[in-house]
Parts: sequence; structure tokens; C-alpha cells
Amino acid sequence: MKRKDDHIREALAQPTQSNDFDRVRFLHRAIPAVAVPDVDTSVVCFERRFAYPVYINAMTGGTAQAKTINEKLAKVAKRFGLMMASGSCSVAIKNPRSAPTFTPIRTLNPEGFVVANIGISAPVSYAQKAVELLRANALQVHMNAPQEVAMDEGDRDFSFWRANLKAMMDAVDVPIIAKEVGFGMSRETMEDLQTLGVDYIDVSGRGGTNFIAVENARSDAPITGFENHGLSTVESLLEAKALQGMHVFASGGVRHAYDVVKALALGADMVGMSKFFLTLATTYESDEIERRVAALLDDIRKIMAVLDCADITSLRRLDMLYDADVEAFIRQRKAHHSPSQ
Ligand SMILES: Cc1cc2nc3c(=O)[nH]c(=O)nc-3n(C[C@H](O)[C@H](O)[C@H](O)COP(=O)(O)O)c2cc1C
Repeated sequence: MKRKDDHIREALAQPTQSNDFDRVRFLHRAIPAVAVPDVDTSVVCFERRFAYPVYINAMTGGTAQAKTINEKLAKVAKRFGLMMASGSCSVAIKNPRSAPTFTPIRTLNPEGFVVANIGISAPVSYAQKAVELLRANALQVHMNAPQEVAMDEGDRDFSFWRANLKAMMDAVDVPIIAKEVGFGMSRETMEDLQTLGVDYIDVSGRGGTNFIAVENARSDAPITGFENHGLSTVESLLEAKALQGMHVFASGGVRHAYDVVKALALGADMVGMSKFFLTLATTYESDEIERRVAALLDDIRKIMAVLDCADITSLRRLDMLYDADVEAFIRQRKAHHSPSQ
């Protein structure tokens, strides 16, 4: 399973960049009236109250290094009550000997909210087995067409994806979250997913880990010029605004607490981070990871107090300012969807 360790190495090697979260601003409130300790960061999702709106997003499994990462992150998930997703479970189903690299996500956090992960092209039985493996509370089904074509050994046939997703939804008895892996989702995609009966999406947009770049770095035949493909997480959240009844998770390029707060203000139900947690798990031991995650969560509270928001509902009511590029995106998409077009 060299590929899994390649992904970790290449993802860590990518520089953290400026992204669309930097092109979205809040109006400053110079006289807030909220005390930091009184800020309530909790959210209700899947009929459970989470103390924090941050989750550890899908990453890894299948290798010794992946096992260590999963163990460290499961401990921190338990400590703060964070939702945690596994990496794609296919490898553990194909080769049950690698299952112990995934199972600590559940065994170290028996009461936690654990999300299994599987690719949209996997057999339906894999989706069921992934849920069983982790006694998962939900299942992420990842849709990663740009990554597949950039991967020498990747899939080339997407024609059965929609039917397969529908079959997975019929076969699995936990909620399914349809998830991108860093290229975002348009409103059209979200509407297609809604038509298929999906109630939960993780838009996972551009701006952070770039899987075309990861695969290009591993490939003998890289697809040059393709790395900028996709919608950013901010754009994807703006696309989701018109949708009724969809639960929207935001991930992709969420670098720190300020990005988390912006994603929530843009309408996200919860906010996922992968690279942030990967960096912690590959750099520090558990005590220091815990300290740094506590700092992230505390920063969310501090920023919310400055914004005069005592809870996440108030955050969602804030007016936001957009830089010219994001503004142009909003204008073009509004024109596209307007009935006169
Ligand atoms: C090393 C690594 C492995 C990943 N493996 C998976 C995976 O198995 N399934 C999945 O849905 N997403 C996977 N992802 C994608 C993340 O869940 C996330 O969508 C993406 O990295 C963007 O978030 P980020 O910018 O915070 O890293 C992986 C990400 C990383 C860094």
C-alpha cells in the first residue's frame, strides 16, 4: 500500500497557500458585547450535539504510518468530542489483515461519532462492510473523478457512479455523506445529489490539499495545467446557499480558526480539516496535539466573541464582504440561474 504513504508524503509537501477564504471578510464590530467564555460553539447534526463544529476529515489507513496517525487522531477526537472520518476503507475490505490500521478510530473512541469512508465506484457490499468495520455512525462516499484520471492506476469509467451511489444508499442503514476530495461542488451537482436522495454533502473544495497535484507528482504521465481545476470551498458554499433541506459540510483549505468561522458564516453545518490534523499527527505526540487542537477551538471562541456572536446561529446571520473575484463568481452564477436566462 505504497500509494497511501505517497499520499501522506505528497500532501504534507504541498505548501499552504492563500485561498478564497482570504477573499471573504467580516465587517468589524468595534464594540462587541459577548464574553469569550460565554460563546457557545456547539452544533446539532445527525440529532447529536457536538461541542465543536470542527471534524477530522477522511485521510488514511492501510499502512503502519496510517495506523499511528489514526490512533493519535482518534484520541484527540475522543478528548474534544469531534466527529472523525476514516480514510477509504476499501483496502481493509480487500485485505482484512490491514483492518487494524483503521479500527483504532472506533476502539479508542467507543462512544464517538465515527464516519467510515468508501469510494463511489466500490461494490455496494464494501459500503456495508466499511460501516460494519468501524461501527460507523455515518458513511462518506467520496467522488474523486479529477484524482482518478490523474492517477496512472485510477478509474476511467464514471458512467455507473450515480446508479452505484443510489444502490449504496438503499443498502446502507446509516446516513450517507456525498463527499468531494478537494475540487468542490456546483449547485448542479448538489441538485443531482438531492435528486438521488442525498441529504448530506461535504463540498470539499479547492484551496487546500490538491489531489491532481498529488497524483501528478506520483505519475509517469502528469496532466499538466489541470491542477487549478475545481470550485473553491467558498464558491461551493455560495453555490449551496440556494439549496433547501441539504446539510452542508465544508472542507478543503480550512487552515485555522478564522477559516472555520468564515465557513460557518457562509452556511456550513460543520467544518472539516484534513491537512491541519495530518500535520499535527505527523509532527507531534498526543499531548502536544491536544494542546494545539485546544488552541484551535479556543481561537474559534475568541473570534466569535470579536464578531459579537454568542452562538453559531448568530454567526450565520452576519453580512459578509467579498473581494472582486468572489463577487464576480456570485454575479455570474446569479445570472446563470436567473429565470430570464
Ligand atoms: C493524506 C490524505 C489522504 C486522503 N484520503 C482520503 C480518502 O481516503 N477519502 C476521502 O474522501 N478523502 C481523502 N482525503 C481528502 C480529504 O478528506 C479532504 O477532502 C481534502 O484533503 C481537502 O481538505 P484539506 O485541504 O483540509 O486537506 C485525503 C486527504 C489527505 C491529505
